[in-house]
Amino acid sequence: VAPVVVAIDGPAGSGKSSVSKAVARRLGYGFLDTGAAYRALAWLALDRGADTESAASVVALLDDFDYSIGTDPDGYSVRVGEDDVTEAIREPRVAAVVSAVARVPEVRAHLVAMFRSIAAAVDRPGIVIEGRDITTIVAPDAPVRILLTADETVRMARRSAELTDLAADSVGRALAERDRADARVVDFLNAADGVTTVDSTHLDFNRTVDAVITVIEEAS
Ligand code: C5P
Repeated sequence: VAPVVVAIDGPAGSGKSSVSKAVARRLGYGFLDTGAAYRALAWLALDRGADTESAASVVALLDDFDYSIGTDPDGYSVRVGEDDVTEAIREPRVAAVVSAVARVPEVRAHLVAMFRSIAAAVDRPGIVIEGRDITTIVAPDAPVRILLTADETVRMARRSAELTDLAADSVGRALAERDRADARVVDFLNAADGVTTVDSTHLDFNRTVDAVITVIEEAS
């Protein structure tokens, strides 16, 4: 039987990734971070010196995009060809160009197909997939679809908790800019029909995980 899909979307800093991972662990499901693939393609573009503002240059990279990612929520590595890019894709230089790469329609089509085949191959009863267009494009028929939100000030504060004020300010601005660019391509700020919103503004991490688990239980 095909694995059960739990689809989770949300903006940057909503805690999507850590919450989704914890949910997958609790349920014994696999976990797929789709943002990692867009970041890995952005990394490849930088590595090759490609013009990330040119759709044609970005599309040309797809032939060479030998991407792999694990689906174990307890630790996975991200590879492009022979390179382990698990850490490198988190660098600010990658975040700065990822939205430009992710807005190219051919890129989205290629990656969406890839996500569906990774999900179908998972050797667990289910998989939690998180990103921006999972509830609407990647898995619109998933039995559980959740939009995880939090007020912008809270999201910025959570992301910046360990930084100095100055660094926090620039991280906050970069996040807000990336959300604005991404929202022009995919609407992940409003829940689509049939999608349940979980607002974590007033919930700590564990209560957010509990709230998501409750939505999943109510759906089954
Ligand atoms: O989730 P994360 O912040 O790692 O995503 C990195 C980038 O990948 C986003 O800013 C967005 O441009 C792109 N993305 C996307 N669709 C997804 C997941 C991520 O366009 N489903």
